[in-house]
Amino acid sequence: MTLQGLRFAGTGSFAPAKIMTNDDLSKIVDTTDEWIVSRTGIRERHVAGPEETTSFMAAEAARRALEAAGWEASSLNLIIVATLTPDKPFPNTASLVQARIGATGAACFSLEAACTGFVYSLEVAAGMIRSGLVQRAIIIGAEKLTSIVNWADRNTCVLFGDGAGAVCVEACPDADNSYLGSSLGSDGNFHHLLHTPIGGCAEPLTAENANDPRRYLVMDGKQVFNIAVRSMVSASERALAKAGLAGTDLDLLIPHQANLRIIEAIAERVSTPRERVYVNLDRYGNTSAASIPIAFDEAVRNGRVKRGDKVLFVGFGGGFTYGASVIRY
Ligand code: UT7
Repeated sequence: MTLQGLRFAGTGSFAPAKIMTNDDLSKIVDTTDEWIVSRTGIRERHVAGPEETTSFMAAEAARRALEAAGWEASSLNLIIVATLTPDKPFPNTASLVQARIGATGAACFSLEAACTGFVYSLEVAAGMIRSGLVQRAIIIGAEKLTSIVNWADRNTCVLFGDGAGAVCVEACPDADNSYLGSSLGSDGNFHHLLHTPIGGCAEPLTAENANDPRRYLVMDGKQVFNIAVRSMVSASERALAKAGLAGTDLDLLIPHQANLRIIEAIAERVSTPRERVYVNLDRYGNTSAASIPIAFDEAVRNGRVKRGDKVLFVGFGGGFTYGASVIRY
């Protein structure tokens, strides 16, 4: 089978106007700006209002990406929304985005791979495009994490924020292919270290457990930290090897934005100089599946990524899932 190439046509992102600083949080839980900045690198995060649902934010990011690509929404064949905070249990959030942007006819589904959701979605879209099934796709990472955090738990509520990022990708001649190499993986043995125990069919939400803290996001931060570094380093190394590149060849490394100390450990082990690593978690916190596409959109718009640059996306999240993609923008 002859493979098509993949081309990045446009990016967009959206963040709610409301900002919550570390000092704002210190009025809610026993924490300080100094602790949050020194342990995580986070200074503030965006918080969505009641009308700013995941599909709303995803649609706003999608409109901006479509405009950057110069595409009509009606030309899309595929919409994937990576999220762990869907508007509702079903139908899938991509269908809700489709209705908002007027992309009737495109295939739609949501993809749940937690914070690795964007990288997984890019791989799925790339496979569908390269095999000739789809011509034009939009991949969106969108999260309203503030709707699932426990605002009484200082271990987690200081870490997360809301937002969305979107990327338009399309088929192109293989000679112009932007897709250089990737690696995806998962280890389900660790599913209990980062999860929301209540609310699925195993333990449905009821009137009796409505105040149980296990209905919110629960995380063993220390264990997650260590496995996150290990997994993202090995995924990056495998993707770089497939692309025939070294970490020093990268123009930009865009890692999942969970913790500055994790990002610095990855950069050091992959041998990418610090000035070629994109960091914006100080302004967003951890936006899970949205973190990489928001950072990518910022980097495109502020000139940190130029056409022809080699970029590595690497993510890690609940599952545990992990993955890395090397692209030429
Ligand atoms: O996106 C998916 C992947 N998620 C991640 O990658 C997150 C990975 N984990 C982390 O980023 C870090 O483990 C955290 C930022 C969550 C925690 O940092 P840490 O350096 O591992 O701190 P810790 O959990 O070991 O806590 C150290 C101390 C504890 O106090 P004691 O027991 O030593 O007295 C905590 O109770 O810091 C305390 N603490 C806080 N203090 C002030 C925990 N949270 C806070 C807080 N403010 N918000």
